[in-house]
Amino acid sequence: MKKLTFETIRKNPDVKKFLNKADRYLEKIGYTEHGSRHAWIVANTAKNILLKLGYSKEGAELAAIAGYLHDIGSVVNRKDHAQSSAIIVFTLFHGKMPIDDLIRVITAIGNHHEENSDPANIISAAVIIADKADVHKSRVKKKNPTTFDIHDRVNYATKESKVIADKQKRTLRLELTIDTKTASIMDYFEIFMDRMIASRRAAEFLKCKLELYINGNKAL
Ligand SMILES: [Fe+2]
Ligand SMILES: [Fe+2]
Repeated sequence: MKKLTFETIRKNPDVKKFLNKADRYLEKIGYTEHGSRHAWIVANTAKNILLKLGYSKEGAELAAIAGYLHDIGSVVNRKDHAQSSAIIVFTLFHGKMPIDDLIRVITAIGNHHEENSDPANIISAAVIIADKADVHKSRVKKKNPTTFDIHDRVNYATKESKVIADKQKRTLRLELTIDTKTASIMDYFEIFMDRMIASRRAAEFLKCKLELYINGNKAL
């Protein structure tokens, strides 16, 4: 069976619809952006992590696919959305891509959420790190800053967030640029502790050490 590419998945009309509806539903219940922008960033970050660490192009392509599709289950419900995403992806792509690839993708998707994530394969580890690293001002949907919750505040304060993988040093460095007038570094840690723990475990799965730099200072 022919392999499905990330590009084909991204252009799939059902995928577009799922992402769009999931994003609109989450916006209604007060969440930050979870649509095609988040999907695109997670897909590319996950793919780059694996490529930079020397994993195969095939694995990196599956990481891009899993990264792009990881949150589409939010259209069902935010709770257990990782598992809903995995089931939807199985339903959409069963018979359209090699079953072994599909299994790796749904395992990665079903394990991406920090509440019940286990880096079960390299794809899942890359998606966990890429997902948790996507903190950015552009994800805040609310217009009025007086209605911001802590998630909005931390995202709004984040001007830049990037993951740098170093194959020689075996490090994965998350670099954040935060406007500390909008959110304090403590705010960041308050909501990101669980995510950092999940990311550290995922980095260890890739035989790397997770490092965190905030405004140029080593925080972890
Ligand atoms: Fe998610
Ligand atoms: Fe996500």
